[in-house]
Amino acid sequence: IALAPLAAVSLAGLMTGCTGPQSTFAGAGTEAENVAFLFWVMVVGAVVIWVLVIGLSIYVTKAHPGAFSEAAGLRLIIWGGGVFPVVVLAALLTWGLSIMPDFRREADGPTIAVSAERFWWRIAYDVEGEPGVAKSLPSGGVESANELWLPVGRRSEILIGSPDVIHSLWVPAIAGKTDAIPGRVNRLVLEPTREGVYNGVCAEFCGDAHAQMGFRVVAVPEADYAAYVARQAESAAVTAGPGLDLFLSSGCGACHTVRGTPADGAVGPDLTHVAARRTIGAGLLETSEANIAAFIHSPDHVKPGVEMPAFGVLPDAEIAAIAGWLGDLR
Ligand code: CUA
Repeated sequence: IALAPLAAVSLAGLMTGCTGPQSTFAGAGTEAENVAFLFWVMVVGAVVIWVLVIGLSIYVTKAHPGAFSEAAGLRLIIWGGGVFPVVVLAALLTWGLSIMPDFRREADGPTIAVSAERFWWRIAYDVEGEPGVAKSLPSGGVESANELWLPVGRRSEILIGSPDVIHSLWVPAIAGKTDAIPGRVNRLVLEPTREGVYNGVCAEFCGDAHAQMGFRVVAVPEADYAAYVARQAESAAVTAGPGLDLFLSSGCGACHTVRGTPADGAVGPDLTHVAARRTIGAGLLETSEANIAAFIHSPDHVKPGVEMPAFGVLPDAEIAAIAGWLGDLR
């Protein structure tokens, strides 16, 4: 009894995790809503049964010892311990299975390829056909990174692959989770039901920066989605100057692409519209020139385990110029 207030406070603390952009309980997708509902039904059922069992135990051992005859006890075991669980579990199983066809409904929205790579997400819109297994992305798609836009109310088909190790794509508020496995393509349908920005995570340990391998899901009306993809397809509105010159002369283009410049590296994220994304470093830092500069200077400090080498050898003024130039790529 003395622990009750403590338990209540702890529970309240835990419940604060039930909302927000990364919660399975604040469902914003068909699949997540079904799973959350199933979860609550089971929790309520479990609490009711727990109270009954504990109450009965106290009744027969403390309050009224010997209240049950041996025959009554046997009946209780048969009905309460045998028949009741069989009926309840069978009903739950039937109901759970009846939700499954809903999960397997065909996609009716765009096909988007997502390649999970140590430790970020390559995303390609408007893809056609199967992704190539090696690069896990089909050619011809509009490439972006770490921000997955989806049309609300449509079932978008996500093709998931990886060129290195096993990762797993999970957007708790919408659906998940599906492994990204080298050498094969997995499918996941995401159907956001509410506009909003949600967190996605890597849900399979994949190396040092696994915990920092996040992304954002931006669910918008269909027209906005189309406008976004069209915008991503454009080349960057590049301003010539020292920022661009330093970006190229420092070798950034060996790993990164900025369409509209000679930079066409395919190792790291496409930076063509990097400043229009909400985060840099795969969901890690808010996009700002200061954060971009910090990342260029010592990415391993911001994100331990990151594959990008540090460019701290460059003078601060040069890093600032590159960050300033990247900060204009919208
Ligand atoms: Cu990628 Cu964990």
